[in-house]
Amino acid sequence: MVMGDVSTKTDVLVIGAGPGGYVAAIRAAQKGLDVTLVERTAVGGTCLNHGCIPSKALITGANVAEDARTAKNIGVSADIDVDLDTMVDWKDGIVDQLTGGVETLCEQNGIHLMEGLAIFADETTARLIHEGEGEGSESIDFDHAIVATGSRPIEIPGFSFGDTHVRDSKQMLALDSVPDELVVIGAGYIGMELSTAFAKLGADVTVVEMLDHVLPGYGQDVSRIVQQRAESLGIEFHFDCTAQGYEPDEDGVVVQTETDSEGAAELPATEVLVAVGREPVTDTVELEAAGVETDVDGFIVTDEQCRTSVDNIFAIGDVAGEPMLAHQAMYEGRVAAEVVAGEPAGCDARAIPAVVFTDPEIATVGMTEEEATNAGFETVTGRMPLRSSGRALTLDDTDGFVRIVADADHETILGAQLVAPEASELVAELGLAVELGATLTDVAGTIHAHPTLSEAVQEAVENALGCAIHTTN
Ligand code: NAI
Repeated sequence: MVMGDVSTKTDVLVIGAGPGGYVAAIRAAQKGLDVTLVERTAVGGTCLNHGCIPSKALITGANVAEDARTAKNIGVSADIDVDLDTMVDWKDGIVDQLTGGVETLCEQNGIHLMEGLAIFADETTARLIHEGEGEGSESIDFDHAIVATGSRPIEIPGFSFGDTHVRDSKQMLALDSVPDELVVIGAGYIGMELSTAFAKLGADVTVVEMLDHVLPGYGQDVSRIVQQRAESLGIEFHFDCTAQGYEPDEDGVVVQTETDSEGAAELPATEVLVAVGREPVTDTVELEAAGVETDVDGFIVTDEQCRTSVDNIFAIGDVAGEPMLAHQAMYEGRVAAEVVAGEPAGCDARAIPAVVFTDPEIATVGMTEEEATNAGFETVTGRMPLRSSGRALTLDDTDGFVRIVADADHETILGAQLVAPEASELVAELGLAVELGATLTDVAGTIHAHPTLSEAVQEAVENALGCAIHTTN
């Protein structure tokens, strides 16, 4: 491999073309900068290729199957046949369409999209290593760099993603048939989304979680509804339980677990999904060569402008720490590009929504009541149960609630927690309310179309004001 046989110069080198990197590249190009975007594998990153988009496609397929299977009470019966291979083909078509779209956008914005591994040589130079066919390397001089290398699933002792039957979320989304018996390790975002989806597709699902409830980080009143729904789908939970390892058997594997109260147990599985969190990808870029610092967990340390410990190098998205959410990465991508372009940008969003695509969906934005109290607010809350929503009844989907948290003194909306069908869409209104500093009266006085789920937001706000019409105040 010859180092530096070709040398190019760019204003902005963006490393990684996931939702953080490609957004940063496009925004920087819009600002008139010369941009080089380097991607090692697939444009679109985890989100488009192996994460958000494919998992939501699979969840749609699972919901269609489950709705068809359970619609007898509304007069519809069907014999269900799930062909996962076809569903995965459909999902791959969506991924191709979106990743192709990103490539076109890069082209239209004049971005130099390059395939390879970008590695820092120092704070203004990187080597671009071309892997595989036509391998070799070249040198790129840059004024600014934006690191957007994302995250990868964490492995646990005894379970390697290279092992047959042991899967990470990416491999799980590419299976060609529904496993008979699926053991899921971890009841977080990924564990709950995929265990729910695979149970609906017909798998016999068991979840192993080291804590005593699902979805740590969410209030128990939120997570309980999702857990109960999961149990009604036949998902079995083992809490305070850790997976120790596994032994192969004739149909797959037997997972060995250890529970405080019950001791050792064995769970048969045709497939095992390990979803115990994600870690930053920094070992591919040689940050040390540029002097970029990381924290104790390995995330790149950044300020509100997404600037690292090196003035001309920025980091965005999962590699720069929690929350590891695609929309956060996109937001930081815009900010970093604008700062590089000399604009007075900074990460100052009041509200970052978070959504879990379980059944029902969970969506949160801004502060919980506890967080608002800890921040010194005198709070008032309002709640609307979905069972009182006409639209939820007509959707035959009434589990959940909308809760609003506001500042009692000024009525300013501080946050919201939703457990509801389409919570992922409903949360947008409340994100806007928090961002604009809207009051309870602002939202209560906004006419919401009838019959829609969004009326539950208005009702929850009216409940906080003590004047809800369709629920007891
Ligand atoms: P997570 O942090 O959400 O959940 C991991 C779970 O595994 C926790 O409940 C933890 O207690 C448990 N656990 C850890 N070690 C264990 C062990 N040895 N045995 C049993 N349980 C164990 O991590 P997850 O689900 O892998 O997701 C990673 C990240 O990906 C999330 O933080 C999120 O930012 C992002 N994500 C976002 C989604 C969305 O926005 N809808 C969907 C999926 C992922």
